[in-house]
Amino acid sequence: MCASCSVGVNVYVAYPWEVMEVFEIVGGARLVGEVRVTGAKNSVLKLMAAALLAEGATTLREVPDILDVTYMAELLRRLGCVVERDVDARTLTIDVPEMPSHQADYDLVRKLRASINVLGPLLARCGEAHVALPGGDNIGSRGLDMHIDGLERLGASVRSEHGFLIATRTGRLHGAHVWLDFPSVGATENLLMAAVLAEGTTVIDNAAREPEIVDICTMLQSMGAQLGGVGSSTLTIEGVDSLSPTDHTTVPDRLVAGTWAVGVVMAGGEITIRNANAAHLAIVLDKLTDAGAHVDVTSDGFRVVGESRPRSVDVVTLPYPGFPTDLQPHFIAMNSIASGTAMVTENLFEARFRFVNEMVRLGADVRTDGHHALIRGRESLSGAPVEAADIRAGAGLVLAGLVASGTTTIYEPHHIDRGYEGFLPDLVRLGADVTRKVVSDSS
Ligand code: EPU
Repeated sequence: MCASCSVGVNVYVAYPWEVMEVFEIVGGARLVGEVRVTGAKNSVLKLMAAALLAEGATTLREVPDILDVTYMAELLRRLGCVVERDVDARTLTIDVPEMPSHQADYDLVRKLRASINVLGPLLARCGEAHVALPGGDNIGSRGLDMHIDGLERLGASVRSEHGFLIATRTGRLHGAHVWLDFPSVGATENLLMAAVLAEGTTVIDNAAREPEIVDICTMLQSMGAQLGGVGSSTLTIEGVDSLSPTDHTTVPDRLVAGTWAVGVVMAGGEITIRNANAAHLAIVLDKLTDAGAHVDVTSDGFRVVGESRPRSVDVVTLPYPGFPTDLQPHFIAMNSIASGTAMVTENLFEARFRFVNEMVRLGADVRTDGHHALIRGRESLSGAPVEAADIRAGAGLVLAGLVASGTTTIYEPHHIDRGYEGFLPDLVRLGADVTRKVVSDSS
């Protein structure tokens, strides 16, 4: 339906909330060509928060042109930073004042959970941080207990009041030994960013060791932080009095690279993925090889060839270097058209299997029981309207749409835009039939 149209004498005017975008995919094309991956969303948002730790101008490079960066930049501006972004050059400069303000409000936090990452740096720099509680989201309940316990061990007082998490300190934070119950990415980052300016030595045991954590550690070291055990599950931090601004290049996005790799295995064809690190995807590429793909490491990335129908592969999500939960929907999509039966086990986010209902709409044979999904591969899927509930579910649905017969319409594609820069233009260049359309909501 058009945005405004007339029927007889009655004039119908569509209201803005009735107009929405969708992705429309006509399945069946092979994917052939080259793509270049930019910096990782799940790193750059934290690097932006880390910039708060030093007064002055920090420059970040390989910054992806995605909505989440826009939200984080807005948050930093509200904290008093001057943020300049050159989208073409993929750079972002954050000029941090001597004393940033310390409140992150709900209107931004609800759009960007990663806002919680300003908690540690603001507490360390300003002495207090008021960050709106983000609540749960479409992939699960998302606890903060380890962030809070860890900051308290460093000497902070943390309380929840009127929807805000309020962390304060009297005097400097002090070093402590923190054992995380689980290698939480967000808790490791917050504690790391608080501990770099604490007095004395902090040890974080059972720390997360994702490549994005290593990236933050590398940036913090270039700012003057004293860190040991980088890349291991025991991080040692010798607090320093102050840090200096820096110039840092964001680690490539392994999840975007992984998305392309699964896509070509499903659709068939050959993609060279540039600015990617195959080592960061070791378990994923190994699974794709088991599924029948050919993978070659190149000088700045890797090449994946998918020639025939993939074979089913079992997957169990775990913290790095285990299989990433963020590629779980992609593997459900792949297993849906693979030969054989696969079990996918999700150990991180309880609601991530909501996506399965959309796959069933496309004709997939998937049954879930608790945190297991049993997928019986079918010869084909059939295009249908489906809804993207989060970034990764959205990407999984795009991949499914590429191999489904007929047209798949993906509603709520703004979720995908939060994490994938130029996804559609890249797909089109590789040969896919995908368009972004504006439609009216008749519901
Ligand atoms: N958890 C707690 N208590 C805590 C911290 C975490 O119970 O104090 C639980 C969470 O509820 C969740 C699990 O531990 O069930 C994992 O949480 P973690 O802290 O490791 O994840 P996160 O920092 O919230 C980041 C990424 C996610 C990614 C996970 C796991 C960002 C912005 N987000 O989330 O990415 O799935 O690590 O690798 O870095 C995405 O990009 O689509 C995405 C969701």
